[in-house]
Amino acid sequence: MRIERISTGIPSLDNLLQGGVPRGFLVALVGEPGTGKTIASIHFIAQGIKEGDKCIYCTTEESRESIIAAASLFGFNFEKAIDENQLIIIDALLKKKDDPWMLKSLDTQELLQKVIDAKKELGYGHGRLVIDSLSAFWLHAPAMARRESYIIKKVLHPWNFTTYAVSEYAITTGEAFGFGLEHIGDAIFRFRKYVRGGVLRRFLLIEKCRLTAHDLRMWEIEIIDGVGMILKSPTEYRAEDVRLPRQVAEKVLKAKEKKEMEFP
Ligand SMILES: Nc1ncnc2c1ncn2[C@@H]1O[C@H](COP(=O)(O)OP(=O)(O)O)[C@@H](O)[C@H]1O
Ligand SMILES: [Mg+2]
Repeated sequence: MRIERISTGIPSLDNLLQGGVPRGFLVALVGEPGTGKTIASIHFIAQGIKEGDKCIYCTTEESRESIIAAASLFGFNFEKAIDENQLIIIDALLKKKDDPWMLKSLDTQELLQKVIDAKKELGYGHGRLVIDSLSAFWLHAPAMARRESYIIKKVLHPWNFTTYAVSEYAITTGEAFGFGLEHIGDAIFRFRKYVRGGVLRRFLLIEKCRLTAHDLRMWEIEIIDGVGMILKSPTEYRAEDVRLPRQVAEKVLKAKEKKEMEFP
């Protein structure tokens, strides 16, 4: 059986995935702030625009304008794609009464309805969907993350999307605000960062990709102004090297538990 693969828009990443992610997959992009999740998502959408896909970008962490500006710094014209009805950016920060593509609340039902409305508006054909981020939808109730993720996957399944869903990990513990996405993702791209020799370095590891003989190494990421994201080279570091020391992580978790006990 031949598996159709969707290009990530980052050639050096496609090379690690036998050409791209299988069509229809839900890819979880997970990692701490500033690790490159949004930029990877912008590449995914830019590639969709190039291929004539119907593209939807739902942004909760940044405004629509910020996403358009970030894309333009890498040479992608999102404004034109919006004008040509190839891209809709759903904005959860926006507060404009007359804008049809804003979310009134961070509610998954409303998100799903908006995404389906947007797909109808864009028309028939393969769609690329980015939800950046999903964490925002269960910040108030992390325990719901798994159930909500499952519902999102199920409801969107018939709509012919290949999806990127972002999960923000806390800087302190390197953990999700409620694990959920990781359980239902067909693929998991784990982004990391740390400081070595006084310099910030970023890395990407494909932790999972079903139906794919993917690369198993952690790659150093470079983000170049005017060009975008490239995977430079695999690294020698082990996962332990980029985690917080265990004692520190335990202390942080203990403090967190204590705080939660104070608010019954
Ligand atoms: N035009 C650019 N040129 C080079 N580096 C950039 C550019 N724009 C952003 N970056 C780098 O990318 C980082 C943001 O990446 P982003 O994908 O937004 O992170 P995340 O979504 O994981 O929080 C910035 O902190 C900066 O280091
Ligand atoms: Mg981001």
